[in-house]
Parts: sequence; structure tokens; C-alpha cells
Amino acid sequence: MAEKPSITVLSDTYDLYMKKAKQAKENGNLSIAKRNFLLASQTMMEMAKQSEGKLKEIRMDRARRLVKLTENIDKKPEKIEKKSSGESNEEDDEVKKWQTAQIPNITFADVAGLDDVKKSITIRMINPVKYPEKYKMYGKKSGGGVLLYGPPGTGKTMIAKAIANEVGAKFYAVKGSDIVSKWVGESEKNINSLFEEANKQDRAIIFIDEMDNLLGTRGVDTHNDKRVNEFLQQIDGFAGRNQNLLLLGATNRPWDIDSAATRSGRFSEKIYLPLPDAAARKFMIEKNMKNVPVSKDFDIDKIVEQTEDYSGADIEELCDRAKDEPLLKAIATDSVVDVTNEDFDRVLEKMPPSVTPKEIERFEKYNEEVNGLIKKNKKQG
Ligand SMILES: Nc1ncnc2c1ncn2[C@@H]1O[C@H](COP(=O)(O)OP(=O)(O)OP(=O)(O)O)[C@@H](O)[C@H]1O
Ligand SMILES: [Mg+2]
Repeated sequence: MAEKPSITVLSDTYDLYMKKAKQAKENGNLSIAKRNFLLASQTMMEMAKQSEGKLKEIRMDRARRLVKLTENIDKKPEKIEKKSSGESNEEDDEVKKWQTAQIPNITFADVAGLDDVKKSITIRMINPVKYPEKYKMYGKKSGGGVLLYGPPGTGKTMIAKAIANEVGAKFYAVKGSDIVSKWVGESEKNINSLFEEANKQDRAIIFIDEMDNLLGTRGVDTHNDKRVNEFLQQIDGFAGRNQNLLLLGATNRPWDIDSAATRSGRFSEKIYLPLPDAAARKFMIEKNMKNVPVSKDFDIDKIVEQTEDYSGADIEELCDRAKDEPLLKAIATDSVVDVTNEDFDRVLEKMPPSVTPKEIERFEKYNEEVNGLIKKNKKQG
């Protein structure tokens, strides 16, 4: 039987899980953050079991609070409801929150694969901001919108963050669910103030993440319909007048978006972000394992082969989990324990790809409908 780990070991383990959790949360990797907060909570519980009195209580309480934290990690505070209680400055605060205060530290170089996507985005959204005179000289129009779509965890939000980094424009990042309100009329007001604020800037990008939440197909739910109508009006109003307003949307349910939202002059350019190919997977695994102690015969190509149909988010999680056991051993024995292919095998056995073949098929079909003809023509030309 293994001995119970000492408090020092547990405490070091706890610190490590917390560090990983916080880092993941900062990077927006909520599933990894969640898992590590839970592991930290379990570790704290272990520590509580080995303590007495007041200290025991504090540790139990901390463990419980960490569980609570994971439950609420992807929930937004219900700030919109508060607004109707008459606080006058809430709306301004709301707009300020929309704007990414801290632009995340992600660049295109961090995004694996997706070269075509990066190129399209550069031409459409980044260069017009960086080289406005050149665009003018060549009579190239800017403005309008791009919709990124693809299975969950393929880098849509990541690309949006990278764009925020690359351009000097004001970047308004909103989640569909942030604008949607239970209160009649509030969503419309939110949309209106968002556009108004963005329009004050010399150049602005409005990024709507989880766009299907905001602009669902009309005819099913009257709240949604009002929202969609308001949004379309705003886009048309500003897009006509203001070439300096760029729209960026992301969704993993493109078929649920009202088709009027993706017409010409709106989110008209649709860009597909597929699951990562072998080269992209290799890039991600290498990045994840950089400076990590691995066995001499560690074979990344084998993992690349094993992870066909895994999303970028899956790969991130896989690498994170594979490190768990060697890491725990390293702490317990105060030594260096290499990560091996067996560590990956063990995790892979219990971790199928998060996107099912049926879902992939649906995306491929949608993509074929939307972009298939264009691609075929390009290949011939
Ligand atoms: N192409 C990629 N290159 C590098 N890392 C990636 C890539 N795609 C996904 N990842 C990893 O997966 C995580 C989640 O990606 P992201 O949030 O961009 O997915 P998403 O496409 O927006 O998913 P969802 O549809 O669920 O919102 C990223 O933080 C990153 O660690
Ligand atoms: Mg996303």
C-alpha cells in the first residue's frame, strides 16, 4: 500500500493545480480550468482530512468553494437583470465591459494550421486597419463582416483574440448570451448602445462570439425576432455610413443563424475552421510538450496519428491530462519523472474526440453548401 501523501506534498500539488487552473482560465480554456480547480479541491479535501479543528474547517470550506467556482465558471453574472433596478450608470458600465480591457496575449503565430483562414482574415480585417492608405490607393473597400464557423474547440475564439492583438482598432467582444436579456426591450437597447459606442471610434471591430445565441432563425421566438431585427437595422445603418466598422462573428451552430444576418454587407464572408490536420496537431502537441521532461523514445508522431478527429481543445486537454500522473509522481518522489507515450495512451483510452463523426459530417456538408462552389472554381482557375 502506498503511504498517505504528506501535507507538504499535498500542498505543493494543490498549488500546482491552482496555478494550472488559473492559467487555463486566463487563456479561456474553461474545461481545463474546471478540471484543475476540481483536482485542487480534491487535494484540499485530502489536506482537510489530515487536519484538525479550525484548520480543518477552513480547508473544507476552501475545497467546497472551489467546487462552487467550477460550477459557475462559464456563467456570466446576471448583470443585465440588475440594470432594470434603476441604476443609471449601469448601461455605460455594460458597454465598457464589452470592450476587451486587456487584450489577450494571443497572436496568429499561436494558432496552429488554418493558413487559409489567417490569410483571408489578414486581407479582410487586419490589413485595412494597418494600411488604410494602401487600401485607398487601390480602391479596396473595407468594412462588412466575417463569420467564423466550425466545430467546438477549433480556434474560433482564439483567432478572434489574435485579431484583437494584431489590429490597433478598438475591439468590442461580446458573447451572444451577454446581449440576450430576459427583459423585453433590453436586448435591443444593449445592441443599440454597443453599435453606438463602436461607431464613436475611428475604427472598431465588433466581435460577437456564440452568434447563434443572438441571431437565431426568426419565426420561432418573438424575443429572438426583435433582437435579430434590431441587429440587422444596426448593421445596415452603420455599415452603410461607416466603413471603419468591422464585424466578426463566431459560431459552432451556423445553421441556426438567421440567413438574413449573413447576407451581403452583413456577416457575408463565411470562413470554415475545420478540425486540425496532422501538421496542426503536431504543432499543438509540440507546443504543449515544450520544455516538459519526456522519455527518450517519446514519439509525437504516434500521438498525431492517434488523434485524428480530435479538436484543438481536445488536444490541449489530452496533453494536460497526460502530464498529471508523471507530475504527481515527480512531486511525491521529489524527482523528475518523464512523460511517456503510455501516459497519452492511458488518457486517450478514456477520452474519445469531443466532436462526433456525425457532427463533422454536418459541418462538411454545410461548408460544401456555403463555400464548395467557390473552392471548386478556385481549384480550376
Ligand atoms: N488551431 C488551434 N491552434 C492552437 N490551439 C488551438 C487551436 N484550436 C483550438 N485550440 C486550443 O483549444 C482551446 C479552445 O479553442 P477556442 O476557444 O478558440 O475554440 P472555439 O472554436 O472558439 O470553440 P467553441 O465553438 O466551443 O467556442 C484554445 O484555447 C487552444 O488551447
Ligand atoms: Mg469559442
